[in-house]
Amino acid sequence: MKKKFVGVLTAGGDSPGLNAAIRGLGKAALQRYDMQLIGFLDGYRGLMQNRTVRLGGQQLSGILTIGGTILGTSREKPTRMQVGGKFMDMTEAMVDTYQKHHLDVLVCLGGGGTQKSALHLKQAGMNVITLPKTIDNDVAMTDVTFGFDTALGIATEAIDRLHSTAHSHHRIVVVEVMGHNAGWLALGAGVAGGADVILIPEMPYDIEKTAAAILQRSRGGKHFSIVALSEGAMTRQYYGKYSALKEAKANAESKKEKKEVSQELLELEEKHRNHTFWMSRTLEEMTGLESRVTILGYLQRGGTPSAADRLLATRLGTTCATYIAEERYGVMVAARGDGVEPVPLEEVAGNRKTVPTDHHWVDSARAVGTCLGD
Ligand code: F6P
Repeated sequence: MKKKFVGVLTAGGDSPGLNAAIRGLGKAALQRYDMQLIGFLDGYRGLMQNRTVRLGGQQLSGILTIGGTILGTSREKPTRMQVGGKFMDMTEAMVDTYQKHHLDVLVCLGGGGTQKSALHLKQAGMNVITLPKTIDNDVAMTDVTFGFDTALGIATEAIDRLHSTAHSHHRIVVVEVMGHNAGWLALGAGVAGGADVILIPEMPYDIEKTAAAILQRSRGGKHFSIVALSEGAMTRQYYGKYSALKEAKANAESKKEKKEVSQELLELEEKHRNHTFWMSRTLEEMTGLESRVTILGYLQRGGTPSAADRLLATRLGTTCATYIAEERYGVMVAARGDGVEPVPLEEVAGNRKTVPTDHHWVDSARAVGTCLGD
């Protein structure tokens, strides 16, 4: 059989387990299937600019436990690349690079945005396979994404440690957890770390009810509270305005109207940037308890991947090499129970896996008396 040429890139935010996945894919591709591998640097930008790195045995060695990505990453998409100060559709340049290297397939490791771009490249004529990575765990059609377990561990440990200050100083501590518009990370870490309040984007919250729950704890002799706040969480009022504007934008009849609504939406989103500090201040006013904010930020994405993420990334990476050998293209390598499954990119791209409000983590949180702000 003809030797296969494989290109690989990582796109979107860095995530623990990316190097483990590159290693799993690479070692299986080289050793088991005698394929040839090249990496493109900095996501789709490197593909456009034909900036490559050889991925041989030496480059794939010693990277299993290293955080970030040896290939570098970026958030740019093929249809909107900044070139010479302008945004341009650079799909053709990417197809050129693909052909120049006589690639049989391009493997794209990434989250929701990366999956969409990969589908676009498939439609432009490339053979593409993707792997689901993100600490947000919001990629559709896979049980889990690699990066999530590590971030969950970091956020949980942070909540454990914040208990010391909250308890000793009789304070409220508002911990802002990443996750974009999905609440998996805040909910998971909140339940695992025993947060007293958990607020996630899927369940718009009531500030009065949140303050009341904290006051009730205080009256019961517990003069501290930990609030695990997802970065995308919203009050009911904000959610109302936000969804109305989103709908108005979708239904706008003229360009002028669309522009005006978009501007209003931007201003509203800008206000939301200070949401965590606003919430902390408001809880302080409403309860009379001192409140502090801790934003976990990029700490959640950094450092050594957990054992579970290394296992998952290796499992998906090595299976990806098998799919290439079998020429199963146009799919995402998804985690399903203990196994792995190919899912057509059309079913993944443009969809997001958010927390169902009847999820068993939500139910468990309620059962142990956690306030969910509703
Ligand atoms: O998607 C991963 C993530 O860490 C989100 O949780 C967060 O909203 C976003 O990336 C931050 O993006 P950036 O790295 O561009 O600041």
